[in-house]
Amino acid sequence: LREKLKDSAKGASAIRHVHVIGAGAMGGDIAAWCAARGLRVTLADLDHETIAKAIGRAAEFYDKKLHSSIERRDALDRLMPDFEGTGVAKADLVIEAVVEKTDVKRKLFDEIAPKIKEDAILATNTSSIPLEVLREGLAFPDRLVGLHFFNPVAKMELVEVVAHDKAGQATLDRALRFCGTIDRLPAAVKSAPGFLVNRCLTAYLTEAFVMVDEGTSKEIIDRAAEDFGMPMGPIALADRIGLDIGLDVVRMLKDKLDDPIPDIPAWLEAKVQNGETGRKAGKGLYVYDNRGKPKKT
Ligand code: NAI
Repeated sequence: LREKLKDSAKGASAIRHVHVIGAGAMGGDIAAWCAARGLRVTLADLDHETIAKAIGRAAEFYDKKLHSSIERRDALDRLMPDFEGTGVAKADLVIEAVVEKTDVKRKLFDEIAPKIKEDAILATNTSSIPLEVLREGLAFPDRLVGLHFFNPVAKMELVEVVAHDKAGQATLDRALRFCGTIDRLPAAVKSAPGFLVNRCLTAYLTEAFVMVDEGTSKEIIDRAAEDFGMPMGPIALADRIGLDIGLDVVRMLKDKLDDPIPDIPAWLEAKVQNGETGRKAGKGLYVYDNRGKPKKT
């Protein structure tokens, strides 16, 4: 499949320039990954410091993972901070990865839609907002698609390519091919609640929270999942995703699935209220050192 995708990417109207809006946990890492895979990338955020941090994170990642100093320099050259947001008018693909709030995303679409190139596609990294809701009011709904990356972007090969009722086939094809270009494996899904992965993941993570609530230690839960073959346990994964983002997803899915999701323990809600949102905040279910490694407690 990977080779097939790469081949078709060669013939298709290739994506050469990606503009990423939102340089947080996901947007910053999506931008870094695309630049490492040879694409020109502009990275924008309301908060300029977040852009700078994301570029710093990318430089560290390139130092570790790219083989030669030339490759590292070229990747960094391709990844451009875009403080004025001008890249949006030049990109072949615009990916929004701003906060998981419908009104914020819709307002952003209103602002950028008139600036996007006529043949460019607009992608959203939303985890939970139905694309039918996000496309409302958009002048070119056929060119909107979901490109749902997973965290951590560099490790997780899967990308859900999310269709909706007005998505154009050409857009979906182009999105699938884009995944091939950047060495990711696309899963074509419909815009159903939780898409495919979060629907399963939410049940898994919330059950782990219930076990913590019942008194099982979080370390034991994580170790058991790792022994079973998971790359990381559910508690560490929740911290990695961000407890705030996770809660948004659970709240959204709560009444929409056939099987009920367990109630979120009050202590988890309190942590988010206190800003203890996980690894990105240095504290969530675990406490982290400044290199993002969990501290022994
Ligand atoms: P984050 O909170 O780390 O980053 C969001 C960034 O968006 C912030 O830097 C903020 O300054 C910026 N922002 C907010 N409004 C903006 C605007 N109007 N224009 C420009 N920048 C703006 O959030 P995270 O975790 O990166 O999530 C982003 C999106 O990715 C959400 O839709 C989320 O559901 C989705 N997602 C998150 C995953 C995760 O594991 N955290 C996994 C897959 C998808």
